[in-house]
Parts: sequence; structure tokens; C-alpha cells
Amino acid sequence: MSQALFIKNAKQLITMKGHTDKPAKKGAMSELDIIENGSLLIEDGKITAVGKHEEVEQKYKDVISGAKHIDASGKTVTPGLIDPHTHLVHAGTRENEYAMRLKGKTYMEIMNAGGGIHATTRATKEADFEQLYKESKQRLDTFFEYGVTTVEAKSGYGLSLEHELKQLEVAKKLNEDHPIDIVSTFMGAHAVPIEEKNNQDAFVDRVIQEMIPEVAEKGLAIFNDVFCERGVFTPEQSKRILEAGKEYGLIPKIHADEIEPYGGAELAAEVGAISADHLLKASDDGIRKMAENNVMGVLLPGTAFFLMAEFADARKMIDNGVPVALSTDANPGSSPTISLQFIMNLGCLKMGMTPEEVLTATTINAAHAINCADRIGSLEVGKQADIAIFDIPNYMVMSYKYGMNHIDTVIKGGKQVVNGKQLQ
Ligand code: NIG
Ligand code: FE
Repeated sequence: MSQALFIKNAKQLITMKGHTDKPAKKGAMSELDIIENGSLLIEDGKITAVGKHEEVEQKYKDVISGAKHIDASGKTVTPGLIDPHTHLVHAGTRENEYAMRLKGKTYMEIMNAGGGIHATTRATKEADFEQLYKESKQRLDTFFEYGVTTVEAKSGYGLSLEHELKQLEVAKKLNEDHPIDIVSTFMGAHAVPIEEKNNQDAFVDRVIQEMIPEVAEKGLAIFNDVFCERGVFTPEQSKRILEAGKEYGLIPKIHADEIEPYGGAELAAEVGAISADHLLKASDDGIRKMAENNVMGVLLPGTAFFLMAEFADARKMIDNGVPVALSTDANPGSSPTISLQFIMNLGCLKMGMTPEEVLTATTINAAHAINCADRIGSLEVGKQADIAIFDIPNYMVMSYKYGMNHIDTVIKGGKQVVNGKQLQ
């Protein structure tokens, strides 16, 4: 049994309790459950008490006397942040394309000319396992420094069985080695390789017949994602790929309506996807169908910001009953950021969300978007002790003082981690 940990007397202890069974929707996205002067007890990596400081201290005197203490006076404590959509494992950067876009080229023009996802695919294919591991680990370290304790990570820069597996194996090894938990998604259908541009359906067949069965058999992914966009995969092709994944137990996710309205939100509802992500151009009908079918909307405002595009209408989605989560979409082309705190700021300023909603969207709802809400996303007795302590007196400052990292301390599975090393 490891030494207990007592996080005491937080100015605000935000538990997010009560939404473990179902994602928070509408008004429930504003229910944070804030305990002023709150304390939290952790034993064997799990939360064993949460409440008012005096009450917890009184009731668990004996355990607390032998526990390590972290004084959270004046600070805000939340569940560890969760990023439910990243392209974590890849090689290289694309600042050259950023410069081209600043001069007027569009994201799709660059991709169709062999850059974009194709450029990162070339770099990722060339990189060996160690190189990919090293680059991705650096990103994970930064995620952790910014308060993120779980990330979803997609493949999709291999576009062949061998290199998709390599990306997923890197994610698997990082999950074993790094304090951050990684939940993997297969995204072989991220783009049609340029060499096969004129033979798209043959590539779709390969994703279905060759890649999905192997990825599933090796247990390398939980979700199956596809980039459903004009010029990439059609809704029909996307549907085939997502349905095929279901046969192998892979849960559908979808990059939907990012650049153009293309029926992605509707398709997510039809195939029973756990989430539809992006949704900048989602139709009203698509939003309605998502709400009716309990499809989470995972919104990625860093992408709209970085592509200088119109933002997704989070307000409309929430008001219509779509449970919303937020994510960085961390990737080298459309959103090269790792700061979920900045994403929260964009959620408020650019998508009509409130400081309460963005916190729900990066904790318990983000946990639901990757099917992990039974373990993480809230500070409740029995849950994994993944905790972020922010050096701010209340949660609103998190997205108000923008572009900064407000983290003081991160606890993962009950362990305090500093510079990637566990302190106890
Ligand atoms: O989520 N839209 C497709 N995929 C990523 C971008 C990938 C890239 O540009 O490398 C996204 O935006
Ligand atoms: Fe993405």
C-alpha cells in the first residue's frame, strides 16, 4: 500500500460529480459542484474522500496523520484535464505551410498539392519507432505540464498497414511508460495516399479488409475514425469504414463537417458514433440528429483559430441538447497546440460557451467522449486520482488570463509527478 495523499484546503475544489453515467447536457453543463475550502484524500491511487476541509480532516484523522500533504490554499483543484482528440504520434512540423496559408493558400489546396496530411505521412513513414516515440513523448510531457492526464491519440499518418501499426505501437508503449494515459484510435482513413488518388475505393477496401482486422486483432485501438470531407472520404465511403470497424468492436468516431457541410454530423448519428468532431459547418439537421442519438460533439476551436475559419457554433449545439467536449486536435497542420487551457479560452470567446461549460467540456464530458467516464473526469470517491491543481483562486481565471499555463501541480493516479518523475 502506497502512502496516502491529502490535498487540503483548496479555495475551490471542483468535483464535477453527478455526470458519470451520462454526459452533461444543456444546463447540466454548468453544474460544477464547487466546494469552497475543500479537501481530498487519496489512497492507493483512488479518491477515498472529498468534502469540506474540516469534515474530511475530522473523519479521516488517522489516515491523514500518515499521509503526504499538499497544501492547496488559495488554489483551484479540478479533475485532471482530458484531451479527447489528438494526432499525438507523428513526425515533424509544417510551419512552411503555415507561411503559405498566411499568404492566401488554403489548407485543402496545400493538401491536394501533396502537402498537408501527405507531408506528415511522408515524415512519419521515414521516422523509425524510436524517433516517433521521442517526438511524441516530448508532446506528452508538455500536455502533462499543462494539466492533462489522459489523451486520445489517433493514427492516420501511416496510411499503410505497416506504418499505421507503427504509430499505434508507439502510442501503446507511451501509454505504458508515461504518466499520461493514452486511449488509441485507428484512423487509417485520414487521407487517400497520393499514389492512389485515382483509385480511392481500392484504398477504402484495404482499410476495411487489411487494416481494421489487424488493428482490432492486435488490440491496438478502441475507436475507428475517418476524415469525412469533400475531396477526402465521401459519406458513403466513411460509412463503409465505420460499419466495418463496428464488426471488429471498434467504436466509430468521425472528423465531420470541418471545411464544408458534408453530412458528417448526420452520418455520426446514423452509425451510432460515440462522437462527431470538428462540426464547424454542421447543418441544423445534423445537430438535431446528434442530440437525438446522444452523439457527443467534440469541438476543436484551435483548428478554426489556426485555419482562420469560422468557429463551430457550440452555443447552438448545447442549447439543442448536444453534449459538448473540447479538445486541442493537437496536430502539425491544422492545430499545432498542446494547451487545452487556451482551447477553453477560445471556447468562451469564440464559440459562445461559458467558463463553467468549458470546464465540463474538458473533464467529465471529455471522459465520456472517449468512453472513460467510469474511471476519470470527476473527483468522486472510487475514481482514479487524476487531479490538476491550478494556481488561481477560482476556475474562471483559467480561461480569463489566456495564453498562460496556470498549473501548479499535477497528480496522476495518486502520484505527484514533477518533470515526468513520480515524487512518491
Ligand atoms: O483534425 N482534418 C483532418 N485531420 C486533422 C489535421 C491533420 C493534419 O493537417 O495533419 C484535423 O484537423
Ligand atoms: Fe483531428
